[in-house]
Amino acid sequence: MHVLKSALALACFALLLDECASSPASRCGVLGQCVEVNTSRIADNVNVSLYYESLCPGCREFLVMQLMPTFIMLSDIMNMDLIPFGNAEEKQVGDKYEFTCQHGPDECLGNMIETCVMNKVPDAAVPVIYCMEAADNVVKAAESCLALFSPQTKFSDIMACVNGNEGNQLMHQNAKETAALQPPHEYVPWITINGEHTDELQQKAMSSLFVLVCSLYKGQAPPACTLGQKATATKTSYC
Ligand SMILES: *[C@@H]1O[C@H](CO)[C@@H](O)[C@H](O)[C@H]1NC(C)=O
Ligand SMILES: *[C@@H]1O[C@H](CO)[C@@H](O)[C@H](O)[C@H]1NC(C)=O
Repeated sequence: MHVLKSALALACFALLLDECASSPASRCGVLGQCVEVNTSRIADNVNVSLYYESLCPGCREFLVMQLMPTFIMLSDIMNMDLIPFGNAEEKQVGDKYEFTCQHGPDECLGNMIETCVMNKVPDAAVPVIYCMEAADNVVKAAESCLALFSPQTKFSDIMACVNGNEGNQLMHQNAKETAALQPPHEYVPWITINGEHTDELQQKAMSSLFVLVCSLYKGQAPPACTLGQKATATKTSYC
């Protein structure tokens, strides 16, 4: 995909050079357009990672009110990574891991269902997880959210992952990724932007992730960024 985009930009640039080298300014009217294509295609997406827990109120609010709406509007310039684990703990028992979660066993189950959904049905993961986190009961909503956004997937296949070795290993990866954070996380939701966490980035992301992603993107801003800045200052709540 990236290769294709670059090739496109290069072709455009080549065309430009050829045209402009031998022609008066009027024929270079296309220049503006090509520059736009070039910069907008080549800049790196802004990477946003969320370290969270499925039942933490502050995480749910950030995910539902900010992260997913922003991702839907800015998916052209933003990558999103969700790592459900947060303040949970793991203990190795034989060749398996046992997990203990801040908000109890249901939270571990919610984390695991979301992890398995991301792994098994990546294309439907965003709406399914949004639907779960926006529901009154995150865990109870899982089956109907999956039926709604990925009707071809059997809930029993997700639960086989949840209760099997696969889910266990996937959650262990989340634990390792969370433990590797630099600086180590102190609370959740914990946000990294392009792999970096600072108090300032966290605060800006919590007050308006949308504005932050638009401001960090180095290419031509997509129309969504300039069509009125949607500042959703929400109350910050940590777990
Ligand atoms: C296109 O992007 C490349 C790489 O970022 C840059 O070196 C080049 O100057 C750009 N060309 C134009 C016409 O903006
Ligand atoms: C964003 O993530 C992608 C994929 O993991 C990586 O290749 C890229 O270098 C990251 N960009 C930045 C600016 O960290």
